[in-house]
Amino acid sequence: MKRVTLLPGDGIGPEITDATIKVLEAAGVKITWDIVPGGMTSFKKTGNPLPDETIESFKKNKVLLKGPLTTPVGGGYKSVNVSLRQRFDLFVNVRPAISIPGVKSNFKDIDLLVIRENTEDIYSADERYTGPDRSTAEATFKVTRAASERIVRYAFEEAGRRKKKKLTLVHKANILKCTSGLFLEVGAKVAREFPKIKYEEKIVDNMCMQLVINPHQFDVIVTTNLFGDILSDLTAGLVGGLGVAPGANIGKGYAMFEAVHGTAPDIAGKGVANPTAQILAACMMLDYMGETKNGERIRSAVKSIISKGKSVTKDLSGRATTTQFTKAVIDALE
Ligand SMILES: NC(=O)c1ccc[n+]([C@@H]2O[C@H](COP(=O)([O-])OP(=O)(O)OC[C@H]3O[C@@H](n4cnc5c(N)ncnc54)[C@H](O)[C@@H]3O)[C@@H](O)[C@H]2O)c1
Repeated sequence: MKRVTLLPGDGIGPEITDATIKVLEAAGVKITWDIVPGGMTSFKKTGNPLPDETIESFKKNKVLLKGPLTTPVGGGYKSVNVSLRQRFDLFVNVRPAISIPGVKSNFKDIDLLVIRENTEDIYSADERYTGPDRSTAEATFKVTRAASERIVRYAFEEAGRRKKKKLTLVHKANILKCTSGLFLEVGAKVAREFPKIKYEEKIVDNMCMQLVINPHQFDVIVTTNLFGDILSDLTAGLVGGLGVAPGANIGKGYAMFEAVHGTAPDIAGKGVANPTAQILAACMMLDYMGETKNGERIRSAVKSIISKGKSVTKDLSGRATTTQFTKAVIDALE
């Protein structure tokens, strides 16, 4: 039986990962879960938000299903998400935004894929206070040719597997002429290797506006770390919000799957969280592990329950609890 590391995380994490495991088990997926600590819950108990046992388990199992983790704002420990991505060189962050009939949103039939470089730029949080009395703060904004090349190439290959075969590279090279400029230069060079893909470049501010006005013009979007973080929440908003947006962090030999949303502290422990994003992240994990049939079965069950609109959670304008929604998905499995 396959072993997978499970980090339930903070806030609503334990509720939505528990729901996810139940759905996978009901679908007949055979996985032994190594349940490990991490995040604020672990920090409060042991003083360490990323214990060695968690790192060792991921090293051994190579696949990690992760619930959301609290990251203290403006101080405290470094983001465990960022640490895991850097430590295991999970250089690709794949964030699909796909419309689900029944989810209220301003657009229909969205099918976008945001591919975000996951290890560098200012998001790597290499920053410090300088000057007396913390009068100045500085950060290292590093972009390398090697990391840019591998992410752009990954994005072209993904675009090649899709119908539209279009890739939009997002940058800010008019202002950040070296950092974003290097990413853009690499994009244009790699584009020559993929003549069948329609390739275009957009400045990030314009891209935000274009996405909210006419998202259907896009297909695959590739960008650097911070822009990708922001753009992928925007694209989640296009399909009805964070409750339905999954994500994958992929490297060479290691992969970590998570919901795009955070710990939702305002509803944690109330039993009303929507586990859809976490379940769909597990489906991406099943695809990665070669269990695509089970992934598709679970996706179909989730979509059929949401499209009926009866047993959905409050964020989707329903009244169901996490448990009721989960049971409905299990009952809908074919
Ligand atoms: N990948 C991650 O682990 C991750 C990602 C984003 C934020 N965070 C962390 O989460 C914490 C809270 O962040 P935030 O409040 O900005 O964002 P959030 O995503 O936790 O919540 C934003 C809003 O969306 C709602 N929401 C989110 N997920 C939901 C779900 N599954 N079902 C129903 N409603 C849901 C919340 O109730 C809240 O109103 C912070 O510590 C942040 O650092 C972690």
